[in-house]
Amino acid sequence: MIRFPDSFLWGAATASYQIEGSPTADGAGASVWHRFAHTPGTIQRAETGDTACDHYRRWRDDVAMMKSLGFNAYRFSTAWGRVLPEGTGTINEKGVDFYRQLVDALLENGIEPMITLFHWDLPAALQDRGGWANRESADWFTEYAEVMFRALGDRVKWWVTHNEPWVVMMLGHITGEHAPGIRDIGAASRAGHHLLLGHAQAVQAFRAHQPAHAQIGLVTNLGPQQPASDNPMDQMAAELWHNFINRLFLDPVFKGSYPQIMLDFLGEFAPPVQAGDLERIQQPIDFLGVNYYTRNVVAYDPDSSLNSRSVLQEAQHTEMGWEVYPEGLYQILKWVQATYGDIPLYITENGAAFADQVNEQGEIEDRDRLEYLKSHFSVAYRAMQEGVPLKGYFAWSLMDNFEWAFGYSKRFGMVHVDFATLKRTVKASGHWYSQVIQNHGF
Ligand code: FCB
Repeated sequence: MIRFPDSFLWGAATASYQIEGSPTADGAGASVWHRFAHTPGTIQRAETGDTACDHYRRWRDDVAMMKSLGFNAYRFSTAWGRVLPEGTGTINEKGVDFYRQLVDALLENGIEPMITLFHWDLPAALQDRGGWANRESADWFTEYAEVMFRALGDRVKWWVTHNEPWVVMMLGHITGEHAPGIRDIGAASRAGHHLLLGHAQAVQAFRAHQPAHAQIGLVTNLGPQQPASDNPMDQMAAELWHNFINRLFLDPVFKGSYPQIMLDFLGEFAPPVQAGDLERIQQPIDFLGVNYYTRNVVAYDPDSSLNSRSVLQEAQHTEMGWEVYPEGLYQILKWVQATYGDIPLYITENGAAFADQVNEQGEIEDRDRLEYLKSHFSVAYRAMQEGVPLKGYFAWSLMDNFEWAFGYSKRFGMVHVDFATLKRTVKASGHWYSQVIQNHGF
């Protein structure tokens, strides 16, 4: 029997561009994702977030659905360009109102909102001014954060600055698979640093404005990076990946320094640190959000980027090709605590894509996802028993949605979405999750 504390937050996570649709409605400014998705050759089957789950119009039904599932929390992101169409300057009240109404509806239904300010949909107007590679982006982000704190700070207790800065850096600015589609290590490194600076400045602004009960944190994607063998070359390759994924953003935040191995590796492309930056970035935060999906087993390979390649394991893999490895969640939670201390933790994303199908009875028997969730809850619980301060869990995702460069081909939802009719159907995993919440365990 596994029993989580009564105070545990249970919910799911989503992101604005992935679910909302109507990306330029009511005066919203287009985002880099809107622009990117409308660029030929970027997204599978040339899909876009133009309609997505139509949450922008169906949000009342979606809140009711979360209520019926028994959620006591919900993590979502606000679209910067709905609020500030040009990214800075004029506020679009209709955009602010959308989130105000959503927050009020959640609270009326006993669901605590956790707002992520930046889940990748930078206003396109700001990309035209250099985007995150421009140091001014830290100020732009702070201005936007302050608008949101003023609008919703009286009622939202949990705030997240950025979602997964590593992915913005890597997929957005190195491989170019994500918006803004840049392939430039120098720009990537600058973007990474400015994301951290923006995070820190927003935290400072938060401390100045916020009621004491509210909390702010950062969300990072973490996962064990393990060597494929005892060979020192494999070990070195894994160590580099570990520093790149797990430490590059967390060391500055918790220790006030970049990992030396990354500075050596980046050489002339090292982050453009100015006097005072690292002290500022080391601002205390109230919690850390951990997004966990899989591990990476790494072998040295001089012919590949970062001199290494991933080694496929004999194990179950999701539709993303990601190994199902629950033990990695336990390992990473323990590692965070051992490395950065007793910072309160939330699992802000965790889940699996499978090719779910509606059966003749109109049900979705997503046994694989249910087992995925169950195995991850079990190890999270074990970590808690051993003293890891884990306070909540948000499944990725509430419903099937626009999975970035994969379009609608990857289904992560606990709720199925028929993208032709936009009909929502709770999957077996969603029904089971609801029971877990009700029983505080299983
Ligand atoms: C994470 C993202 C989230 C979703 C999942 C599958 O990296 O934060 O938006 O795409 O992966």
